[in-house]
Amino acid sequence: MSKSSNVYWHENHVLRADREARQGHPSAVVWFTGLSGSGKSTLANELDWRLFERGISSYVLDGDNIRHGLNGDLGFSPEARTENIRRIGEVAKLFADAGTIALTAFISPYREDRDRVRKLMDRDTDFIEVFVEAPLDVCEERDPKGLYKKARAGEIPEFTGISAPYEEPLSPEITLDTSIEDVTACVDRLIEALVDRGYVPSE
Ligand SMILES: Nc1ncnc2c1ncn2[C@@H]1O[C@H](COP(=O)(O)OP(=O)(O)OP(=O)(O)O)[C@@H](O)[C@H]1O
Ligand SMILES: [Mg+2]
Repeated sequence: MSKSSNVYWHENHVLRADREARQGHPSAVVWFTGLSGSGKSTLANELDWRLFERGISSYVLDGDNIRHGLNGDLGFSPEARTENIRRIGEVAKLFADAGTIALTAFISPYREDRDRVRKLMDRDTDFIEVFVEAPLDVCEERDPKGLYKKARAGEIPEFTGISAPYEEPLSPEITLDTSIEDVTACVDRLIEALVDRGYVPSE
């Protein structure tokens, strides 16, 4: 809901369909969700590289980077997390409108927030939810940023999986268990799923 009055929507002349037709592939949002350390950033960036090599237009929106800039004013309370995801959803939608496959790597712990982003999209098929599944103990063992250690020491309040909830997706388009399959195998499966669904031309 916009707080501003006297704000009018201006239709773009170049339509999303025109951009997609020129690029030879549809745009979409690939939404990675999962615990800290489950592998969202690793997989999103590796997928980005593989898509880049195939001439596909894609771009990673990553949790930490967005919190440095656009969402630098937000903390980690439930309300702030919801607002974080709302803004990311809007940005991801703009990327899709610009003809790009947006790859988003945010814990996005609340099901309702993710579902709201799904509903925000122009087309049902625009939102591809990827559940990056790894047991909490595996994520904690990896602890790539040392955050679990700090959370266990009580230095980070409201840490997802420890002192804040994570709500698993009920029907994600893709589920990857990163404790079973390595990075290459996971990205192969992502590419395969995107080819099967027509987002990426087969080679
Ligand atoms: N199959 C796999 N897929 C992804 N990462 C893996 C896999 N196997 C092991 N890893 C390792 O797990 C760690 C995942 O860290 P990464 O930063 O990608 O997690 P994240 O989900 O983005 O966490 P955060 O929410 O804190 O940003 C990396 O050190 C990565 O090398
Ligand atoms: Mg990350």
